[in-house]
Amino acid sequence: MQNNSFESIQHTLLKNNLQLTLRPARPEDAEQLLVFVEQIAGESENITFGPGEFGMTVEEERAFLQQVATIPTSLYLVAEVAGEIAGTLTFSTGKRSRIRHAGEFGVSVLRKYWNLGIGRHLLTYLISWARQTRIIRKINLRVRVDNLAAIHLYEKAGFVQEGRISREFYLHDQFIDVYHMGLEIDPLPET
Ligand SMILES: CC(C)(COP(=O)(O)OP(=O)(O)OC[C@H]1O[C@@H](n2cnc3c(N)ncnc32)[C@H](O)[C@@H]1OP(=O)(O)O)[C@@H](O)C(=O)NCCC(=O)NCCS
Repeated sequence: MQNNSFESIQHTLLKNNLQLTLRPARPEDAEQLLVFVEQIAGESENITFGPGEFGMTVEEERAFLQQVATIPTSLYLVAEVAGEIAGTLTFSTGKRSRIRHAGEFGVSVLRKYWNLGIGRHLLTYLISWARQTRIIRKINLRVRVDNLAAIHLYEKAGFVQEGRISREFYLHDQFIDVYHMGLEIDPLPET
């Protein structure tokens, strides 16, 4: 039998037995999220910005979070461990009817929490949230071709490589290609 219920706040145990909470971000998370973003920017070269480059004020971030909460095809998901933001996943689609069914996401986890399953739990949440919107039919992403951990994670979740785009990243005087990957979504049936 199909389980059609979707819980927006989810609790689960990580591989190290710490409790993970997944929940939509709230406007009052703005300050902590900017601290998280700055930390990630210094920890990984697999995202599109470096330290000091994110460029949002707390007020702008708060307004952004408020706006996301009003859009049924947008998600700003937070992964919390012991009250700390350990990871995030953001997803949005186009606005117009011809492109509202397809969107792209980005995901990041603090380095100290890598390989505990947080990325997998964030992706699983995204996919079941997308299904229950009954609007979203395609999830896309871009990933550096040398980001093997992320590619492994996405393939395990069912994403397939759909193409390779050259020169998407530029750092340390070098261009780096990305793969476009995608997952087709079947909506949850009406109960
Ligand atoms: C990619 C990222 C989100 C993964 O998060 P995570 O919480 O570590 O993910 P998980 O623990 O659920 O899964 C990681 C998987 O990668 C595997 N892995 C780790 N290093 C790997 C490598 N070098 N090659 C292949 N697989 C690797 C792990 O074994 C694990 O797979 P398993 O569950 O089958 O054992 C995290 O590493 C991150 O935030 N990186 C920096 C930002 C980034 O790259 N974001 C994605 C941009 S597209």
